[in-house]
Amino acid sequence: MSHNYTQELQATARAMVAEGKGLLAMDESTGTCNQRFEKVGIPTTEENRRAYRELILTTPHLSNFISGAILYDETIHQATSSGIPFIQVMKDLGMIPGIKLDKGAKSLAGHPEERVTEGLDGLRERITDYYSMGARFAKWRAVITIGENIPTQGCIEANAHALARYAALCQEGGLVPIVEPEVLIDGDHTLGRCYEVTETTIHEVFHQLYSQKVAFDQMILKPSMVTSGASSLIQASVDEVATATIHCLLNTVPAAVAGIAFLSGGQTIVQASAHLNAMHVLFEGQCPWPVTFSYARAIQQPALEHWKGESANVEGAQKLLYHRAMCNGAASRGLYQAEMEKEPVAVRS
Ligand code: G3H
Repeated sequence: MSHNYTQELQATARAMVAEGKGLLAMDESTGTCNQRFEKVGIPTTEENRRAYRELILTTPHLSNFISGAILYDETIHQATSSGIPFIQVMKDLGMIPGIKLDKGAKSLAGHPEERVTEGLDGLRERITDYYSMGARFAKWRAVITIGENIPTQGCIEANAHALARYAALCQEGGLVPIVEPEVLIDGDHTLGRCYEVTETTIHEVFHQLYSQKVAFDQMILKPSMVTSGASSLIQASVDEVATATIHCLLNTVPAAVAGIAFLSGGQTIVQASAHLNAMHVLFEGQCPWPVTFSYARAIQQPALEHWKGESANVEGAQKLLYHRAMCNGAASRGLYQAEMEKEPVAVRS
């Protein structure tokens, strides 16, 4: 008989969304990490990717605001320059190690311009390996594109089904699944259109999760926020985004779900903090689940730009990383204020 991880999964899921904390996504695949390095002129070597991840994970007191970090396969096998495995570093600092399990979004046959996320083959065995290395949660990202006549129901169903199969396998193997259906911000669509697509998508995701017997209290949903398309001429206000997003989630996400942790999806760093904050200010006490962040770019970007691959810049980059974690930690309690952006504060315990 297989091991029953119920209590461990519930405890891990709760810890991932503990009050005032969120998740740090640092699971960029090698290709994506290299693209981000290239944009700021950092040589795309394995050693630079390792050094950058060391910079992030050894940021003093990061665990004040970060409950766990999502790693990529290359990173989970790496260690600090003094030889301490990253997984050990995280455990010592009180952050839960997570792992990206999907193998990326590929063209969906018969559906031009649409993609389905792959990675189910051999997944049970990969989960066993990562669990024994110390990972305690996982991530799988599905991508839904808004455009003329898309998304199709076929694309939404294929992605939702894969997310549910992944989530069920994770829970069988002791990893809390982060279920990430990202409705891309790209395009000139309205906030209303984004609402419609996000609602349809999340509804289908929970239908499939239910069919695959996924335990809602042992999973985290990582949705995109309901925003105007990035190239839309009319941009919704912060309060409109917060209101549409929470209404959409209240209509689609079962109350038993352990937590919601948003992706930033190309929003600016300030928008990502302001939107999350507004959700807490406007809907205090009205959501049945904790609502927090699981950002990559909206936490890392200033640090990456400052670092530039130079060891002399590590301390300054860590200060910037800590500052974004702090702003988002505050936003997850409705305590973020624009003045916090004026000057990165000194690191404090
Ligand atoms: O899969 C996406 C990441 O985990 C979140 O990244 O905050 O840069 O959108 P992002």
